[in-house]
Amino acid sequence: MTSQRWMLAVCFSLASGTTPDTCRTFGSGIVQPFNGSSYYVRSNCPFTLTRFTHNRVECDITMRRGDSGLLVQVEIIINKIRTVLQNGSVLVEKTSVSLPYDHTYQHVFQYGIYTKLRSLLLPLSVTWHNVPGGIDTLWVELDQELSTDMTGLCGQYNVSGNKQQLIAQSVLTDDTCQTRDPVSTINSTCRQFLSMALDCLQTRTPLYIQLCEENIYNYGNSKYIGCAFFKEVVQLCGNTSYVWSTWRTVTRCVPPTCPGDLVYVEQGPAFVPSCSNPSPRLTNQDLTSSCVCPRGTVLNDRADAVHCVNASSCPCVFSGRNYRTGDVHKTKCQSCLCDGGRWHCSENTCPTRCLIEGQFVTTFDGKQYVIPGKCTYVASQGLNWTISIQFSEREASLKTVVLQLFQVQSFYDKRTYQTNSSMYVLVQTSFGMKLQVQMSPEIQLYITPPKSYIGMISG
Ligand SMILES: *[C@@H]1O[C@H](CO)[C@@H](O)[C@H](O)[C@H]1NC(C)=O
Ligand SMILES: *[C@@H]1O[C@H](CO)[C@@H](O)[C@H](O)[C@H]1NC(C)=O
Ligand SMILES: *[C@@H]1O[C@H](CO)[C@@H](O)[C@H](O)[C@H]1NC(C)=O
Ligand SMILES: *[C@@H]1O[C@H](CO)[C@@H](O)[C@H](O)[C@H]1NC(C)=O
Ligand SMILES: *[C@@H]1O[C@H](CO)[C@@H](O)[C@H](O)[C@H]1NC(C)=O
Ligand SMILES: *[C@@H]1O[C@H](CO)[C@@H](O)[C@H](O)[C@H]1NC(C)=O
Ligand SMILES: *[C@@H]1O[C@H](CO)[C@@H](O)[C@H](O)[C@H]1NC(C)=O
Ligand SMILES: *[C@@H]1O[C@H](CO)[C@@H](O)[C@H](O)[C@H]1NC(C)=O
Repeated sequence: MTSQRWMLAVCFSLASGTTPDTCRTFGSGIVQPFNGSSYYVRSNCPFTLTRFTHNRVECDITMRRGDSGLLVQVEIIINKIRTVLQNGSVLVEKTSVSLPYDHTYQHVFQYGIYTKLRSLLLPLSVTWHNVPGGIDTLWVELDQELSTDMTGLCGQYNVSGNKQQLIAQSVLTDDTCQTRDPVSTINSTCRQFLSMALDCLQTRTPLYIQLCEENIYNYGNSKYIGCAFFKEVVQLCGNTSYVWSTWRTVTRCVPPTCPGDLVYVEQGPAFVPSCSNPSPRLTNQDLTSSCVCPRGTVLNDRADAVHCVNASSCPCVFSGRNYRTGDVHKTKCQSCLCDGGRWHCSENTCPTRCLIEGQFVTTFDGKQYVIPGKCTYVASQGLNWTISIQFSEREASLKTVVLQLFQVQSFYDKRTYQTNSSMYVLVQTSFGMKLQVQMSPEIQLYITPPKSYIGMISG
């Protein structure tokens, strides 16, 4: 008996593809808490999904479903910054933002067919899927276990939540809303689909039949409620399961439509290779349902329409203008040839300064090149000083500039100048190096090295 139970426990943990640090909600009210088995809530009341404090940073995520069963409002408050997901848009402190959105405290960006908010204050991200009329799937991920008290529908770690208790404690009072007891009536699509997922759900199959039927009850006509459930089960089962390739036929769930030239894949890169970034850094976890370019092409993100092109026909950009492969761009000191999205430049005849304007770098010896961004670079290095620059993760612009001086007696003079449209910081060191940093609208860096340093600079 004991050994049999042990066997079942092993199958259970192998089959469960989700980690205890993810909490999901999908369909018309299925909740898969951090720990414990999934349950169903039918309600149009606002609920706390999860709420906790970690390192004195408060996190509070609330949600509300509409009559369609979809989530119509989600509020994410982290460190008092309020982000609202509503009507297909993202509002940060009541202002609608466009993606990618890079803020000191959080990034919001497209992630495959999903949208993801990553907090920089907490080891937390929230990912959701917009459909017409609301959100059909949303999950909260924690990168590490938080030893803290957590409340909300997601429950807590190491505590198997009692469903009734979680619901009662998480509902936020609202007089005009209703929480109903779940109803399930036999649905042949649910049963047929789940019979194909037996190899992965095993002993959990009866629970999933119940969830499927509670989820679809009264929403049989919805294009999204049933399909969100099926899709979650398929993701849980993974690409080695039988149901992975057969489910769309049985359920008649149509794949999402992609804009422009993009094509839908069930499992592909979360960040689509583009002209500006032909090989985005991806980990294994960054494989998700996504809209991608046909094989061999990259997204031309330097044009307004959504077109995929051969990497070799990517346009180049210079001061906001597009150039085609073969085009030549001339400045007074050099000429540059556009080749597959990159500039190849001749020797520059006007030296003296090193300019870093966005991704464009003009070196001391006049060479011009474009750096792919997203990393930290050593911009310039002398015997006893280093200037490193860090690019923003999402945009082709500088985020931080660090000047390190390795000598105790060294001193520098820092002045800030404000002009109407921009702000400069001018740093002058004791050994004759000048560093001019334009702070806004975007960071640009001009380095004038001391004369005596000629021949001693790298970077
Ligand atoms: C949602 O958007 C529609 C039009 O796009 C607008 O009429 C409606 O007022 C919006 N609803 C909310 C709650 O913002
Ligand atoms: C959960 O339990 C495991 C082992 O039982 C323990 O190591 C871990 O610290 C616990 N986590 C929390 C957040 O209490
Ligand atoms: C859930 O909590 C129980 C304790 O109540 C613990 O034994 C179990 O390991 C936890 N499960 C997961 C997946 O964290
Ligand atoms: C059963 O579920 C399917 C798929 O979600 C749905 O299309 C159908 O209308 C449901 N049938 C009933 C009787 O509710
Ligand atoms: C299945 O998914 C894993 C990652 O989750 C991936 O490495 C593997 O290539 C996939 N296999 C197929 C056949 O798509
Ligand atoms: C892309 O390259 C392939 C060969 O590498 C070529 O056959 C095709 O015509 C090219 N397409 C475009 C739009 O340039
Ligand atoms: C840096 O090193 C050079 C050569 O070693 C020395 O002459 C100079 O005084 C140093 N400058 C500073 C600011 O430390
Ligand atoms: C700077 O702004 C002030 C008032 O805001 C305006 O009078 C002045 O003309 C502006 N200067 C420039 C150079 O734009």
